[in-house]
Amino acid sequence: MKEQVAKRIEELTNIINKANYDYYVLSKSTISDQEFDKYLRELEKLEKEYPELSSPNSPTKRVGGEVIDKFKKLKHKLPMLSLPDVFSEEEIIAFDERIRKSGFNPEYVCELKIDGLSGSFHYENGKLTTGATRGDGIIGEDITHNVKTIKSVPLKLKDNIEIEVRGEIYMGKETLARLNQERKENNLPLLQNCRNAASGSIRQLDSKIAAKRKLDTWIYHLPNPEDYGIKTHYEALQFMSKLGFKVNPESRLVKNIDEILKFIEEYAGKRPKLSYDIDGIVIKVNDLETQQKLGYTSKYPKWAIAYKFPAEEVLTKLIDIVFTVGRTGRITPNAVLEPVIVMGSTIKRATLHNEDYVIEKDLKIGDIVSIRKAGDVIPEVVEAKKERRTGAEKDFEMISNCPICDSILGKKPGQVDHYCMNKLCPARHIESLIHFCERKAMNIDGLGERIIEDFFNLGFIKNISDIYHLETYKTDLQELEGYGKKSIENLLDAIELSKKNSLEKLLFGLGIEGIGDKTALLLAKKFKTLDNLISTTEEDLKQIKDIGAILAKNIHEFFLNVDNLSLINNLKELNLNMTYLGLEEKENNLITGKRFVVTGTISFMSRDEIENLILNYGGFASGSVSSKTDVVIVGEKPGSKVDKAKELEIEIWDEEKWKSIYENLQS
Ligand code: IVH
Repeated sequence: MKEQVAKRIEELTNIINKANYDYYVLSKSTISDQEFDKYLRELEKLEKEYPELSSPNSPTKRVGGEVIDKFKKLKHKLPMLSLPDVFSEEEIIAFDERIRKSGFNPEYVCELKIDGLSGSFHYENGKLTTGATRGDGIIGEDITHNVKTIKSVPLKLKDNIEIEVRGEIYMGKETLARLNQERKENNLPLLQNCRNAASGSIRQLDSKIAAKRKLDTWIYHLPNPEDYGIKTHYEALQFMSKLGFKVNPESRLVKNIDEILKFIEEYAGKRPKLSYDIDGIVIKVNDLETQQKLGYTSKYPKWAIAYKFPAEEVLTKLIDIVFTVGRTGRITPNAVLEPVIVMGSTIKRATLHNEDYVIEKDLKIGDIVSIRKAGDVIPEVVEAKKERRTGAEKDFEMISNCPICDSILGKKPGQVDHYCMNKLCPARHIESLIHFCERKAMNIDGLGERIIEDFFNLGFIKNISDIYHLETYKTDLQELEGYGKKSIENLLDAIELSKKNSLEKLLFGLGIEGIGDKTALLLAKKFKTLDNLISTTEEDLKQIKDIGAILAKNIHEFFLNVDNLSLINNLKELNLNMTYLGLEEKENNLITGKRFVVTGTISFMSRDEIENLILNYGGFASGSVSSKTDVVIVGEKPGSKVDKAKELEIEIWDEEKWKSIYENLQS
């Protein structure tokens, strides 16, 4: 009986594996969904009844179920290298010339550069044993539990061999759209692009979640071709395809540079129609012996390059041009755009720099314009599509008066920018507000120049104490276009946290003329509290080394001014710390400028202590994890923040790691 069951399990496994292969690798249906479900249910039932006969590689595992508590590290047998990027035809020609000069006359394989994350898949006796991420190229993370849920990754090969293959794990465009639709309905932040979505999905601890994300693969690299008597890369692709892997059919063997350039042009055109994202074309020397002779640098093979497509351009409507006043009084026209997604992010605004820029581009309000964005670069308006004008467009008119104080604008000699010349223009407050929030001052994460200008123009912040009243307008702020619930919550957390800063940061932030961060520290150390400093005489100040007569006068006069004193009183009432905490800001490349979230209990330090230390090293601390977070420090019983960090592929420091960094800081 048991033998019969084992036989049936094998039969069912083969049927299901084949159906999966036909559907997910070859994109053809060979059995109906009903039949497939029937076989799968039968297999599940038998495995339940005879758990001893259930294999860890059974196709029933495709739906997930395995949950791990942390990612194990896996050392790659051979390093997983990445490729040097090139951006122009000239660089491709130079690559070819370099190889020819070394005495070769190579054929190349052109492949699509899939925008996902690379993975390595290991098989023993034809069975999938492990899947790993690239990690730092030497050590990756074990993602076997999730890899099993990727339907195009064979659980069993057509030949019972030992092999490692590498390729790209990606999420298709439609899958991302469907997932984001669901996330939108559930009020979850949207995934920015296919690459982030794929890497977040593969780093789930719970394979059920990964299974739902419907990841896919294209396999493109065989690290040990000599083991199988393979002589060229193109053969390796065919070999891997025959074994059951999903190998991209668009790859092409080409003979010369002209054919490479033709391939690039062809796929630049086909790119929007592909069901997955590509960000370039990979060009590889075909002959494996030539590859070996060309060799490697420490990071890259010398036999391959990645040509990256130029920035993406999309069309949208220029709804309006609005003016903002900068901290120096400079006026900037800004394009208000019909929201459009470029390179995975939504663009609603773009700077138009100055009047001349708008005139040169001949932009009219109502125009259809093309917007360009490359990677993380700021979006720009490229041109107006004049052929699409209807006659209803409105001419651009430069303003002549300041949008804040209404005084006449002027130009500085020889410059293109307009300025509000009114030294008392409230917009100038923006300058002091920006200074107050900057890293060396109160270090308020998220309250940068653009947001301050926005909040100022919208009337939420007029002076420094208003920053600490923003909490009152929480709901209004969350409803503002372009902000959102989470970002405002993070901002309010950062503002709250800044109240704990040591005196020198506040002192520098107040913007007393001539007081830089170094002098602020000197004063904080000497006087310990702001009250002590306020009550010191000009004479006493002058006696301090490095202060001198002018600075002493500035400081003294600043604290005589009633407006300044009332600001300080307000800040005191708002519970801002006004004493020197004795921890001078230091620099440390693991902390300075980075954004941290501390979660769970670290046994030897409180969360407050850790956050204070981070602040003193010029880092930021926040209460919730977002795509902007650089590191999450995780103690005992951390809760859901860790999952979020993993989903977003954010670096995690456990207690041990934090301890070693902390000890280093102390030494
Ligand atoms: S070959 C030694 N081929 O691009 C060979 N990589 O910029 C290494 N990628 O880390 C990789 N499509 O994640 C190769 N057809 C392709 C690729 C590809 C996407 C990714 C891969 C790699 C990165 C290098």
